[in-house]
Amino acid sequence: MNSKPIIVAPSVLACDFNRLEAECVRIEKAGADWLHLDVMDGHFVDNISFGPPVVQSIAKIATVPLDTHLMIERPDHFFPRFVPYVNNITIHVEPDYDIGNTLKGIRAAGATCGLAISPPTPFEKVEPYLDQIDLLLVMTVNPGFGGQSFIEPMMAKVMRAAQLRTERALEFHIEVDGGINSNTAAIARECGANVMVAGTDIFRAQDAALAIEELRE
Ligand code: DX5
Ligand code: ZN
Repeated sequence: MNSKPIIVAPSVLACDFNRLEAECVRIEKAGADWLHLDVMDGHFVDNISFGPPVVQSIAKIATVPLDTHLMIERPDHFFPRFVPYVNNITIHVEPDYDIGNTLKGIRAAGATCGLAISPPTPFEKVEPYLDQIDLLLVMTVNPGFGGQSFIEPMMAKVMRAAQLRTERALEFHIEVDGGINSNTAAIARECGANVMVAGTDIFRAQDAALAIEELRE
């Protein structure tokens, strides 16, 4: 089912923020392919994480691509403040704004674009945009907090995405985010996901390199 190489994207949300630079360096050395940056605004989700100044600081030291997940009410308004510093920007399908134009704007500014779907949202909401995206993020927890349990029924969305990608001869990555560990990553890979986001499993592991390797194989 999986034709693309597996990409592991540790979520910086789970790092020790007192040691942000050292944590990014440690996790890159452990084999991270991308760093996943979770931006939360306290409106779209019930949590506030970090914004442009922290993303810029990470961009100064990072040596791997930055994958930015905007869990915010107005991605159309805020993406320009992130786009110069990162490689990919993923926006959610749920808030009320012009999604098509925002995806175009992100690409025009030189980044790749992703679209994210939360667990309660039907897959049909993302279907019209599949030919305009570089990545589809299927959320496997309700967005807002790290450390939650994987919602396995979301694998139906991953399989549907992989099927439509083949039918329409598209190339987008399929990313899963939330409750990913060696067991759930194996399930997600089997269903067709190729980008594994994990916070707790990697940053809190005794051996981060081993944790990353186990998400890949
Ligand atoms: C949740 C975030 C995730 C989160 C994953 O809203 O989008 O990226 O950090 O954390 P774990 O891997 O701990 O579930
Ligand atoms: Zn995320």
